[in-house]
Amino acid sequence: MQKIVFATGNAGKMKEIREILSDLRIKGEPVEIVSMKEAGVSAEIEENGTNFEENALIKARAVAAGIKGAIVLADDSGLEVDYLNKEPGIYSARYMGEDTSYHVKNANLIERLKDVPDERRTARFVCAIACVLPDGHHFIRTAAIEGRIGYEEKGENGFGYDPIFVVPSYQKSAAELTPEEKNAISHRGKALRAMRECLANYYQ
Ligand code: IMP
Repeated sequence: MQKIVFATGNAGKMKEIREILSDLRIKGEPVEIVSMKEAGVSAEIEENGTNFEENALIKARAVAAGIKGAIVLADDSGLEVDYLNKEPGIYSARYMGEDTSYHVKNANLIERLKDVPDERRTARFVCAIACVLPDGHHFIRTAAIEGRIGYEEKGENGFGYDPIFVVPSYQKSAAELTPEEKNAISHRGKALRAMRECLANYYQ
């Protein structure tokens, strides 16, 4: 059975990737999806790329270097706020410091958009997924979900910037959506499904 290692320690991301890749077959066989921890890999990875794609590939290559025979996937994601020249972007996790709470980060972004009208509050979550194959080939798929920055935090679901990210089709914040509703339209869900198609085609 082909093993797929996902370069994350985040349990939520593992659950999502398992759901999305559950029906993937490689050379006619189901796949086993494990986290890097479950694969026994620990890599100190410096995310020093200049965009989401580079950072995802850096992570996937670093983990692939410690494993033989497995397909390695890694993601990099973040929030781009147009009015702030696409900040925090690739620095989303590090914005105002890695240990600063999202309540504080979200309040800061709302403050920076004070008096900015609806039409200029556009933003998107972006996710790049990189895949490194055992033969060294790599693929990258990127997807986004468009929305805008709200005027206050709303909702208890999700994580990170979800409470201030308003999804137009629901007129709700991403933190007010159920996990199923969010996964169906999210940047990570879309990028993972695109990667599933890519792998299915490569190994068909
Ligand atoms: P990563 O885990 O290195 O990709 O960091 C992504 C960072 O971007 C997270 O720590 C969040 O700050 C932000 N982010 C990415 N996706 C989402 C999302 O779906 N909701 C809220 N915040 C997100």
